[in-house]
Amino acid sequence: MTERTLVLIKPDGVARRHVGEILSRIERKGLNIVALELRTATEEVAGAHYAEHEGKPFYPGLIEFITGSPLVAAVLEGPRAIAAFRQLAGGTDPVEKAVPGSIRGDLGLDAGENLVHGSDSVESAEREIALWFPELASV
Ligand code: TYD
Ligand code: MG
Repeated sequence: MTERTLVLIKPDGVARRHVGEILSRIERKGLNIVALELRTATEEVAGAHYAEHEGKPFYPGLIEFITGSPLVAAVLEGPRAIAAFRQLAGGTDPVEKAVPGSIRGDLGLDAGENLVHGSDSVESAEREIALWFPELASV
């Protein structure tokens, strides 16, 4: 079943020059890149993207981090693309959850600045693709 997922290479991934490394892992896995853009997230887009976390203690720092310097936004496509990218990314905490071999497990130390985002469900993917790439939205 072909799916699309919204992926971010977060500002730490760009600043640490891991864009090529992360895109390479995506391509090696077999996922297709159907949209790709370097941009700086506005407060509006960042707030909408992370609306589910509003009110949590880490939220203000998360928005400051995500809007603070350029990131890479992408849409990936392929069979089970949503789960496939979450597998590549590894768990949220790069030390406690992400396993070696995953992007976060290999490249990260910080639970907040953890290199990548990937949509967590079909519903999230549709919402996030419409937010970041409205020209690609299905409805
Ligand atoms: P979450 O959606 O739980 O994780 P994921 O990115 O794996 O889907 O959280 C979103 C981001 O918020 C997470 O990537 C990093 C940040 N975050 C923190 O800084 N501290 C935390 O305790 C949590 C849960 C998340
Ligand atoms: Mg999430």
